[in-house]
Amino acid sequence: MTGLYVTFEGLDGSGKTTQLERLAAWLRDVGHTVVATREPGGTEVGQLVRDIVLHHRGDIAPRAEALLFAADRAHHIATKVRPALERGEVVLQDRYIDSSVAFQGGGRVLDPGEVRGLSEWATEGLYPELTVLLDLDPAVARGRIDAAQKVFDRIEAEAVEFNQRIRAAYLAMAEAHPERWLVLDATRTPDELQAQLREHVAGLLTSRDGVGGAA
Ligand code: TMP
Repeated sequence: MTGLYVTFEGLDGSGKTTQLERLAAWLRDVGHTVVATREPGGTEVGQLVRDIVLHHRGDIAPRAEALLFAADRAHHIATKVRPALERGEVVLQDRYIDSSVAFQGGGRVLDPGEVRGLSEWATEGLYPELTVLLDLDPAVARGRIDAAQKVFDRIEAEAVEFNQRIRAAYLAMAEAHPERWLVLDATRTPDELQAQLREHVAGLLTSRDGVGGAA
């Protein structure tokens, strides 16, 4: 039996982490074993990579940045995500391959196909059943981070145009693969978003194995 693999994508400030945590709590309540994880930083090695990519003072060459995210991903998938899926668990993951295509491809203007290929090699081609995009205007996302009075990390400190390219890359991926992507309007209230998510995930669980359909 293989588990259910769901990834969450969006700009910083889109609310994906809150939605993931609420969904994890609900799935546990209805009896599923859930691994809630993230990239970068879902493992000890990944924490070290996260510290470099987000907090290194000074430039990191775009290709080096792409390789660092891919290295985090290779270790994360091999040691944490695949084993959980093989045990039949639900894995909810904050960011995955599509973040690299959007941020390093769209944002840093590397070739998106090459960036994706790097991650496909790193993960031996593992893809989730569902990718949730919390779609948000970059100016609104930036306002939310400002309002939270958070200190910007290396990537959050990028200009609004960088984030506009990322949003466009996400929407293009979602349009190309509607069978994998669920696009949600991140300006909806957290409760409305959670309700949409639960309905969708319950449907996936029911169609997989006839359990987990509680609403
Ligand atoms: P987080 O704050 O959502 O955990 O994400 C960390 C930052 O790293 C965020 O700004 C997005 C960025 N990122 C990439 O640029 N490429 C990637 O492959 C991943 C996973 C994250």
